[in-house]
Amino acid sequence: MKICIAGGLLINPKTNTEIITDLWIEDGKIVAIGENPEGEAEQTIDAAGKWIVPGLIDLHVHFREPGFEHKEDIKSGCLAAAKGGFTTVCCMPNTSPVIDNECVVEYIKAMAQKANGVNVLPVGAITKGQQGESLANIGKMYEHGICGVSEDGKTVMDAGLMKKAMQYVKPFNIPIFSHTEDHTLAGGSMNAGENAQLFGIRGIGREAEEIIVSRDIILAKYTGAKLHLSHMSTKGSIELIRAAKAQGIDVTAETAPHYFTLDDSILGDYDTNKKMNPPLRTKEDVEAMKMALKEGIIDVIATDHAPHHYDEKNVEFDKAPFGIVGLETSFAVSYTQLVQTGILTPMELIDKMSTKPAEILGIDKGSIEIGKTADITIIDPEAAYRVDPNTFVSKGKNTPFTGMEVSGEIIYTLVNGNIVYKK
Ligand code: DOR
Ligand code: ZN
Repeated sequence: MKICIAGGLLINPKTNTEIITDLWIEDGKIVAIGENPEGEAEQTIDAAGKWIVPGLIDLHVHFREPGFEHKEDIKSGCLAAAKGGFTTVCCMPNTSPVIDNECVVEYIKAMAQKANGVNVLPVGAITKGQQGESLANIGKMYEHGICGVSEDGKTVMDAGLMKKAMQYVKPFNIPIFSHTEDHTLAGGSMNAGENAQLFGIRGIGREAEEIIVSRDIILAKYTGAKLHLSHMSTKGSIELIRAAKAQGIDVTAETAPHYFTLDDSILGDYDTNKKMNPPLRTKEDVEAMKMALKEGIIDVIATDHAPHHYDEKNVEFDKAPFGIVGLETSFAVSYTQLVQTGILTPMELIDKMSTKPAEILGIDKGSIEIGKTADITIIDPEAAYRVDPNTFVSKGKNTPFTGMEVSGEIIYTLVNGNIVYKK
């Protein structure tokens, strides 16, 4: 099947291209850009006024299967990904059973095969059962296709074990994703500070994050492992990453849309859909995060898509689970907050949502070039609307962005040349 995506603004960070052109796809591959190749298109998608970008890649989602399918399963997660413009997602291992062996890796791959075609890359746990005691069989999981390792939801608190994990992972050249939270300093439900005092909620200090950020940077320095810091939330973490990068340490970092959009002053309504880990920080952190994205200290925007059931969130603030959904709001919130305000260019935004994530994973994606697999997202940047969780296809409706006015709508998502989402 030959598809022509006609007359859109093609934005491709990898080749620094931004031109209005046609994109031709055949047998799942990009076959031409611009000039009409041999033969007619069987399907033409009118992309006038729209963006044509490399499919978005999310380094951080929780698809909850196996074990918590009432929150999300791989199928519903993939539908939400496609609707959000994501063609590849990395799913975190805090499932039940944990992704800590090749059988669970194979199970995820098999379930993804039965879904809509979105590429689901399993992330293996660092330790067996995420118990923090002994290393999982990472080599075996690597043979079966994990894209990286992480203990997400938890931190490997034993520094010696984390160092061993980095040494073990290094020859595979896959990233080690670090959930940076010192458990001995955590224990609250929101950012520690004036607002926590005002609202009477126990706080989580920024030091809980920053101590593990510094520890893992130091370990990466001595082991040479590819360290990727997950969901950065504080100004202090940014300064640590800046210093590490200046020293040439192999470290990359992500943040999520909520950390550069919302701050802890909004928690006075005790809405558990605004509770996540790490927590929303202060206005100063939010501003620092935007600047860090602009400067490239923060490399990637990931979602940390963490669906929970309505009943689980419908409890007192301190009893509710941490986590918010993000796949279906990530592009629009990021575009509205960062591009419409002039902080990032469209090219820089796509770089952080597709090209950089592909580079970190070391996969041949995140770029629109002839011969490459046609993972493509078509976006209407002008479409303005209000976020309404009732429109989400994810099972999780737990978003803090309800009612927010945003611009930027996904019109089509193609994976491997197949349309997996159409508005
Ligand atoms: O808010 C969060 N939710 N943070 C995490 O690290 C884990 C995640 C989850 O699994 O719900
Ligand atoms: Zn995490």
